[in-house]
Amino acid sequence: MRAHRTMSVSLDLQRQTAHQRFLAEGHDLVFGDAADCPLPPVRLAQLTPTSPEVLRSCEEGLTARVYCVEGARGRYAVKQARESCLVQNPDGQTSFINELCRHREIREQRRLEPDRFPGVVAPLYGSLREGLIVSPWIDGERVDDWTERRLLQVFETGRALLEHGFFEWDYSPGNVLDDGQQVWLFDFGYQYRFDPLTQFNSAGHGDDQPMFHLAERLETRNLFAWLLKLEGAGQMPLALARFRLTKEIAVETYQHLRATLAARGAKPHVLDWLSGIVAEWQQALRGDLGVLYLREGWRSHVLDLDDDLRGRTCTPSTLARCDWLLAALQAEGETLQRVGAFFGEDRDLTRAQRRQRYEALRREAERYQISP
Ligand SMILES: Nc1ncnc2c1ncn2[C@@H]1O[C@H](COP(=O)(O)OP(=O)(O)OP(=O)(O)O)[C@@H](O)[C@H]1O
Ligand SMILES: [Mg+2]
Repeated sequence: MRAHRTMSVSLDLQRQTAHQRFLAEGHDLVFGDAADCPLPPVRLAQLTPTSPEVLRSCEEGLTARVYCVEGARGRYAVKQARESCLVQNPDGQTSFINELCRHREIREQRRLEPDRFPGVVAPLYGSLREGLIVSPWIDGERVDDWTERRLLQVFETGRALLEHGFFEWDYSPGNVLDDGQQVWLFDFGYQYRFDPLTQFNSAGHGDDQPMFHLAERLETRNLFAWLLKLEGAGQMPLALARFRLTKEIAVETYQHLRATLAARGAKPHVLDWLSGIVAEWQQALRGDLGVLYLREGWRSHVLDLDDDLRGRTCTPSTLARCDWLLAALQAEGETLQRVGAFFGEDRDLTRAQRRQRYEALRREAERYQISP
């Protein structure tokens, strides 16, 4: 059993290989009805920022260009795949086909239960060959303040996805919109399947990387960058208060998730893992929340820096994260060590080696700055 596992191929590699084979074989992958589009798909595929039908264009996406197009029944988001994704790794290169697969699966599940995924956009049409996904336009803004409603909604959506076997990795600010009533997710380029009854997530073999989960993804890709801004603006008390609120909502979400999965026969290792995380948060909420903030901050900034460096998609905010990490090592190195915050390569390094490592990573992040 063990020998078989060490030999077996990771879920990532299985997925990438399947996508690449599908692309090489030249199949199309389509969902929805072209008649629901605001214009015929061939025209949508040719839109440019100056086309008369285009009300607005979002060019900052790394996988695609998104145009806002007025149709007879309202506004639509027309996502056109780039010929080559700007994220230079296998997940980036297969993110468009991956996104089409997820939308198609979610669409299937919605047929059984229309309200299954609150806060998940419902595209009308998608085609691999035409490089198109057409969705209702979300008249919203990026979240610049994580209030209680917004946190509750994004956790609810994340939980619904997990319960049905969808693990969303990228909750970054450009992938979350709030229309004033509802927080929406719409970009599923990095959303992968997993089995919530036997697996933690879609990393490794699904059951060997417990550090990745919903709250971790939200904190890593989104919340800690925002908390970092609050810290920078001298608003540490507000940052801690919102961190507390996040953890309170996360505790409720994970208790709900655990109960649902338990009722469906989830394996003990999954249920124990969720209980363990909740117990740790509850203890911090009753005791020293500042230490949990430091630990989750360390993890978030390290992982997000790693994502940016792997995808070669660094920005000024990547540099701010590096500076936070270097400052934390300087001021809180002992505490980080005591609470076991160091993971991966960092665990076995000396203080001086860690400082050198993050100074070197900062220089790398300076080299890989992208102009959006
Ligand atoms: N349905 C929608 N309604 C309104 N705006 C949208 C919609 N879909 C996408 N957008 C806008 O277009 C931008 C890019 O979209 P999206 O994140 O799907 O593209 P991407 O290229 O996959 O991005 P990434 O950089 O994450 O790979 C979003 O940040 C958002 O501002
Ligand atoms: Mg995006």
